Amino acid sequence: MSRPDKKLIHRIEELRERINHHNYRYYVLDSPEISDAEYDRLFDELVELEKRYPGLITPDSPTQRVGAAPLEEFKTVRHSLPMLSLNKATAEAEFLDFHRRVLELSGLSEKEIRYTVEPKFDGLAVELVFERGIFSLGSTRGDGVVGEDVTLNLRTIRPIPLRLMGSPNPDLIEVRGEVIMNKEDFETLNKKREKTGEALFANPRNAAAGSVRQLDPKITSTRPLNMFAYGTGRVEGKELTNHWDSILYLKGLGLKISHYIELCEGVDQVKAYYQRILELRNDLPYEIDGIVIKVNEFSVQAKLGELSRSPRWAVAWKFPAQQENTTIRDIIVSVGRTGALTPVAMLKPVRVGGVEVSRASLHNEDEIRKKDVRIGDTVVVQRAGDVIPEVVKVIASGRTGKERKFTMPDRCPVCGSKAERPPGEAIRRCTGIACPAQIKENLAHFVSKGAMDMDGLGHKLLEQMVDKRIIQDQADLYLLKKEDVMRMDRMGDKLAENLLRAIQNSRNPSLTNLIYALGIRNVGYHLAGVLARHFKSMDNLGRQTTEDLTRVHEIGPIVAESIYNFFHNPKNLRVLEKLKKGGVTFPVARAEPREAPFAGKTFVLTGGLDSFTRDEARKAIEDRGGRVSSSVSKMTDFVVVGRDPGSKYETALRLGVKALSEEEFKKMVGR
Ligand code: IVH
Repeated sequence: MSRPDKKLIHRIEELRERINHHNYRYYVLDSPEISDAEYDRLFDELVELEKRYPGLITPDSPTQRVGAAPLEEFKTVRHSLPMLSLNKATAEAEFLDFHRRVLELSGLSEKEIRYTVEPKFDGLAVELVFERGIFSLGSTRGDGVVGEDVTLNLRTIRPIPLRLMGSPNPDLIEVRGEVIMNKEDFETLNKKREKTGEALFANPRNAAAGSVRQLDPKITSTRPLNMFAYGTGRVEGKELTNHWDSILYLKGLGLKISHYIELCEGVDQVKAYYQRILELRNDLPYEIDGIVIKVNEFSVQAKLGELSRSPRWAVAWKFPAQQENTTIRDIIVSVGRTGALTPVAMLKPVRVGGVEVSRASLHNEDEIRKKDVRIGDTVVVQRAGDVIPEVVKVIASGRTGKERKFTMPDRCPVCGSKAERPPGEAIRRCTGIACPAQIKENLAHFVSKGAMDMDGLGHKLLEQMVDKRIIQDQADLYLLKKEDVMRMDRMGDKLAENLLRAIQNSRNPSLTNLIYALGIRNVGYHLAGVLARHFKSMDNLGRQTTEDLTRVHEIGPIVAESIYNFFHNPKNLRVLEKLKKGGVTFPVARAEPREAPFAGKTFVLTGGLDSFTRDEARKAIEDRGGRVSSSVSKMTDFVVVGRDPGSKYETALRLGVKALSEEEFKKMVGR
């Protein structure tokens, strides 16, 4: 290994600065200046140089965000100044009480008082310590006095700088703020988890908090977290006299600051701000639950002082819950993919938290009985995040006596077949095998991502195809001709061809995708993978008894019964046969599990391979019983190192994980 010359050292420093700058543009300002590809080039060059000269790697290098091994437990951190919580105001009058007390205790007049106002972020409070500009310690708020050391996790959050911008840096600064997850990222994360069969997060706050309090920083690094700074703790080497200046100072150091922090003179400006942010609330990309009002001058803050857990100089003015009253005009019953009948309240439209709501789920008949919901009732409806609105309760005093009780039908409202509720279950289901509602929902599932993945075949199109009797089951999609597709509304030549191509291109699914696509009740994407790996072919899976099935780890009696029933329903068997005839390949894995040479072995792939695409390499490993992981840890058995490997190679060397060249890997898989 050669010694780095001055030019190289300079280049490394220059790359770090440029990468930090572009990180800042992208993650803090949301305003990138270069393309992802250009960014990757800079990043790759730095990785390459650091690989050649590992002695030059510094902890604050942008390549060093991820890579730490999982922890056994978090260490505790005592905050040098307690992290207080906030008193709450839930109505204007309570805010005015706060204001009156502030004037009284400070001796200031209405004209003299200034407040900084900011959104109240709904996430997890953290403290970041920067020593001479370098991020050295990050902790959760905990009980306000002692929190947990989550430094390694916070390092993976892109808007958190590893090194502060500007100079000179303060000797020490404690930055306080909130780690949050944007609404859209939360939705995407939950969708992914649904597919893999993992438990869903209830809301973005839980997702953010759960991700920060993860013992494995690698997992945190895969979570799309965001952070806003809203204050300081201890500061050494910089004089700050008011909150507003400290926010501007933090901004200059490269921390992410909300666009909506403002300085107000007098209560009217605060009231107007509250109203403005309340109206904006649903358009913001992240969740907020109110505004925070802080006395601006530190000297005035000091005079007002603190109670045991919260300061007298700040208050959180919370937004009302996203609930409204309205009336139920009707209760209808919708039919899902599995035939489940769900009662839905049709409401007199009402705006809840800025969104018009005209229907709300009533879940099932037991819920209706428990809440005693009747047609004509005045009810409280609620929206939480982006979930389906629901009826919270009936306002009994609103009853006139004209309300009508609702009973669940014992026939499917769509196809008229008997709807049965098995003993012990809350859900009534349509038993019709040709129920159009079920067919439509099943088709939508069949074509979706993770299943057969047919691009461009939306719900509306499928609905039309079923209504026009162009298709009746999943297999009919593969028998479609151009003239069939042309019968759809607003269909053009090009679109029809694209659709047919998307259908044709989906004929060779993986076994996992195919099993998942069938929509077997209780079998999500994750379990489909378990079944595929264990049983190796659809035919073999279809032959298993419930007893055989429950022998598989993760398959319980309920899932086993669903699978068994699916393969013993003549209609499903007909569809499977038709799919084969339509040209869909039913993959069969080669190796039997017991003979699998890579059983129990975990591989990580890094860099480009010449003889395999990433997917082929993955398949080669999985077909032999091995597992592919995206990150290197002590549990990794082999790292396959291709051209221009990433930091995973470094980690492998550091942890002593065996590295395989492409040639060695080829030999192992017998190519
Ligand atoms: S200031 C003494 N500002 O609210 C001041 N807190 O109930 C303490 N929060 O634990 C915090 N947005 O998690 C402050 N703009 C904001 C905030 C904020 C959200 C949270 C924070 C804190 C809790 C206090």
